[in-house]
Amino acid sequence: MSDPTGVPPSSVVLVSGGSRGLGLAIVADLLASGVKVAAFARTVTAELTALATKYPDQLHVGAVDVNDPQATSAFVKQVEEKLGPVDGIVNNAAVGQDSLHVHTSAEQIADIIQTNLTSPLILTRFVLRRMLAKGLKGRIVNVTSICAQRGYPGLVAYSATKGGMDAATRSLARELGGRVLANSVAPGFFASEMSAVLGPTQLDQIVRRTPTGHLTEPEDVVPVVRMLLLENTNVNGQVLVIDGAASV
Ligand SMILES: NC(=O)c1ccc[n+]([C@@H]2O[C@H](COP(=O)([O-])OP(=O)(O)OC[C@H]3O[C@@H](n4cnc5c(N)ncnc54)[C@H](OP(=O)(O)O)[C@@H]3O)[C@@H](O)[C@H]2O)c1
Repeated sequence: MSDPTGVPPSSVVLVSGGSRGLGLAIVADLLASGVKVAAFARTVTAELTALATKYPDQLHVGAVDVNDPQATSAFVKQVEEKLGPVDGIVNNAAVGQDSLHVHTSAEQIADIIQTNLTSPLILTRFVLRRMLAKGLKGRIVNVTSICAQRGYPGLVAYSATKGGMDAATRSLARELGGRVLANSVAPGFFASEMSAVLGPTQLDQIVRRTPTGHLTEPEDVVPVVRMLLLENTNVNGQVLVIDGAASV
């Protein structure tokens, strides 16, 4: 069959923040699809260790801080040795926010921007340079958020980083000239450690505003990430919102 995108499915995918929440669900799904996966977070959880035991030849895990470029570079090189060259990246690791802008210190703002915007761009640059130097094609999926498109109190710096990644996605798609497909997935709120700050009233409000009548689940997002990494769709430079039309 012809390959309309000219970019083959990714075979070795790096997932940041693959230890829990959405990242862990993406890792489990890619492994079940037969893809080799490298997953890192600051702490390797029992769930991620269990996957590494189940898929010893397919999964490489590490305790790595995305904000430490030397550690992320060393991890990528280990991955290449164990699994082969990386040709897919899922920038999923991020920190949340639960503070009004006027109550958020300059240091907190800088930390959120570092983790959610600067470090993913540095990691993407590192992986892309190695990918392109080897003549490989590849795919990038940035996990952003509906917060980049709609306003939410308490999430000013966080929203800015997600909007920044969406903007970077579009420019990457242009700059990479079709050799690497770059897209964002922008979920609505889903239950995780990050969103645990939302109370029942706020969650009820979101559900009432959602035509599909339920909160987004990681399981709603996972197939879209899989499609962007593995299917031939010619989708490039897009932000795919997954929120049951809550924001429409
Ligand atoms: N939950 C929501 O409602 C929601 C909605 C829209 C978009 N999102 C986005 O979806 C993605 C996943 O969110 P989630 O809800 O699954 O969050 P989560 O449960 O808090 O998981 C975040 C992951 O990122 C890792 N991480 C955080 N800081 C890191 C660092 N400095 N270095 C390496 N890894 C780091 C965490 O592990 P460690 O802490 O051990 O490092 C964890 O694996 C994020 O990009 C988030 O912004 C979430």
